Amino acid sequence: MVNLTIDDKQVTAPKSATIYEAAKINGIKIPILCHDKKLKPFGACRMCLVEVEQMKGRQIPACTTPVTDGMIIRTSTPDIIKARKMVLELLLLNHPIDCPVCDKGGDCDLQNLTYEYQVNANRFSDEKFHHEIDYSNPLIERDMNRCVLCGKCARICDEIVSFGALTFISRGIETKIGCEFEGSLNCEFCGSCVSVCPVGSLLARPFKFKARFWALTNQKSVCSYCGTGCNLTLGVKDNKVLTTVYDENQGFHNGQLCCRGRFGYQFINSDKRLTTPLVRKGGALMEASWDEALELVATRLRGAGASAAALATPRLTNEELLLFKKLMEAAGSANYDHSAGYAHAALTKGFARSFGATASPSTILDIQKSDLLLVIKTDSYETHPVIGFEINMAVKNKGAKLNILSDKRGKLSKLPDAKTFVHTPGSEIAVINSLAKAILDEKLAAGSAVSIPGYADLEKALAGFTPDAVAVQSGLSAAAIKQLASDYAKAEKALIIFPVGNAYPGHNADMASAVANLALLTGKLGTEGSGVLCMAEKNNSQGAVDMGFYATSGLQAGQIMDGCASGAIKTLFLAGENPVVSYPNRAVVTTALDKVEFLVVSDLFMTETAAMADVVLPACSFAEKEGTFTSVDRRVQHIKPAIRKVGQSRTDFEIFSTLIAKLGGQAPAAPAAVFGEIAASAPGYAGMSYAALGETGAFAPVDITPAFVVPKTVAVEPAAGKLALVIGSVLYHNGTLSQFGEGPMYVCPEGYVELSRGDAAKLNVAENDLLNVTSAAGSTKLKARISSRMPEGVLFSPYHFGAAEINRVWSGAPVTWVTVTK
Ligand code: SF4
Ligand code: SF4
Ligand code: SF4
Ligand code: FES
Repeated sequence: MVNLTIDDKQVTAPKSATIYEAAKINGIKIPILCHDKKLKPFGACRMCLVEVEQMKGRQIPACTTPVTDGMIIRTSTPDIIKARKMVLELLLLNHPIDCPVCDKGGDCDLQNLTYEYQVNANRFSDEKFHHEIDYSNPLIERDMNRCVLCGKCARICDEIVSFGALTFISRGIETKIGCEFEGSLNCEFCGSCVSVCPVGSLLARPFKFKARFWALTNQKSVCSYCGTGCNLTLGVKDNKVLTTVYDENQGFHNGQLCCRGRFGYQFINSDKRLTTPLVRKGGALMEASWDEALELVATRLRGAGASAAALATPRLTNEELLLFKKLMEAAGSANYDHSAGYAHAALTKGFARSFGATASPSTILDIQKSDLLLVIKTDSYETHPVIGFEINMAVKNKGAKLNILSDKRGKLSKLPDAKTFVHTPGSEIAVINSLAKAILDEKLAAGSAVSIPGYADLEKALAGFTPDAVAVQSGLSAAAIKQLASDYAKAEKALIIFPVGNAYPGHNADMASAVANLALLTGKLGTEGSGVLCMAEKNNSQGAVDMGFYATSGLQAGQIMDGCASGAIKTLFLAGENPVVSYPNRAVVTTALDKVEFLVVSDLFMTETAAMADVVLPACSFAEKEGTFTSVDRRVQHIKPAIRKVGQSRTDFEIFSTLIAKLGGQAPAAPAAVFGEIAASAPGYAGMSYAALGETGAFAPVDITPAFVVPKTVAVEPAAGKLALVIGSVLYHNGTLSQFGEGPMYVCPEGYVELSRGDAAKLNVAENDLLNVTSAAGSTKLKARISSRMPEGVLFSPYHFGAAEINRVWSGAPVTWVTVTK
């Protein structure tokens, strides 16, 4: 710490602080315009000028100048005020005074500073700019006439998002912010640039002319898309969520969001929302009262026993999932599961046997503390984009090494010095086993490893996984495998990150055990910056596991579908789950759902699955309810209602609670009471209190009991003349919900199949050609997308789209072999 004087006040500040930071932590306000706490100091605008006595009273920018011991600083002398006024006058010289029609009115730093410094006349005069306004895309409007050249947009896009879509172009008076070749913005539409722009140059078009900033009510919440658990603020007016409001002090991510979190909120107010219960009568779904609908469901569930089953989306709150489980128990059934059973097997089976816990032992915060990141599947950026930002920052700012093991390249592959090791699809577990083998052979294992149970068995089982042997099946060289192994083992702190989800059937329990073995062999566990982070797909996937909402003694998702088809399951209750689109093998799923006697669906929308139901219950979105979500790294966070319930919709909490009462049980009154039960029973939640979660939430600790487990590998035999289809998540979407978020749909409106340039040439395929993709499971037509990231012989398709029907082709195996014709 250093001692210094600011405005005659003796203060202390960390050695690394700038004058601006030192003032801020001591409650002294210095105005800023180009500064943002997430970005590197830039010093472009000169709003933050202060005087430093030791520098002979010279005016210097507070945001770029580090403090030194004994510094004497003045922040608001008459000369400084005069200088700041002049900065504003110069900015206003060109800036159009169109505040009445500018959407940023009321939330504009330039407007606020002009008011604060009472700049009501201008001694200078000049012509205004006449830049053409870019309306070319539906999410971001760019009006460079209003730009104050603070560079925040270009800096955030480069430093944090790592896309680099915006930059300063031209020089001198002609300088402006532009895109490649002065074209339109064509990027990943995360909206980060919009969020930091201090004026109305970059605007969120979905919010345009919807409301003045000061007319919004703000409600803090948690994003309901992926498991990263980003905090967000919902801007509400007239019972509608009109925007997400940027708050740089929110969450571990300082308010950063991805396209889904920033622009995907429209599903909350969608006019496609279900608003009344529906009951099938004479073959058609007809409006019904809640009483009638719930009575029908209760009648079916009462005493149903093992003939009833339930599947839930891990988007429900922890409290709802626990009640759903209680409801099934009240019906006498142990058949309940979530996310097709694939998404959570890594945690519930893999980590359970390797770590003795069903959660990741590492946190998102470990990413920036690590020396080496071993990222399995580049999709970790596409599945959990804000975790991708954390990886960017670790690599660029902290010098972390990045090794990627994947069946295709991705955005992470473009980071400085990133090394991508592309293996043949389906061989990842064999490769990870061979890394373990190389670590043993090269004597790079930690001395403590031999005392972990299962060591001898693992050593024996790994004998066949020599780098030379695995090189043949994986397409990697033995040298590459050895390099990956030694990089990992020799790094002081190394973190393995891998995504799991509905569309990653190869990423199951064995994958989790294989990576756990690596961490255990090298002793890279239990210390900051080291360990394993398993990124489950949905906003509350970890919560669903923690609540025990998966098959332990009953049937798991696939078996439930089989049970429906065979007639063993007569009543199926789906809460927010849309298996017709999101589970593999669509023909099998639709046949099963057709056959089941009684299908109940609670959902926000008339999904492909809800359309098949006997009873449809209109459920509430996350913006209309309260409860808790648990992120991939076990941050337990509150959500609270931002709006009143849409139509007659009810929360799943209310639905399950009423049904439990109808089945003769004791219905809990409120989520807080159920959280009390969770805190008393769920491992790691002990001692948590609903009220004390506050705005920052609480981490549920993970206790590890390590054991080596031999992971099974399944040989993926190449099929002559066929291509390997891998399924996954695309950056803009998450599950099937984002189909109802207008923002993501503007950017990525339909499914496609992505193939390499080489395969496209062989098949004589051009971009956007309609292709027939056929496997043993079925066939569909999809548009072609040609890219340089795909290896030859491999196809990729996102799975989110109801209309694209890739799950007619995708069988649920780690690799589905397909033929492609035009
Ligand atoms: S929306 Fe995101 S990716 Fe696009 S320019 Fe802005 S910061 Fe860059
Ligand atoms: S567009 Fe906005 S954020 Fe970018 S330089 Fe201009 S004023 Fe700054
Ligand atoms: S989708 Fe995931 S990464 Fe994107 S804002 Fe939401 S929680 Fe964050
Ligand atoms: S805020 Fe310091 S120079 Fe812009």
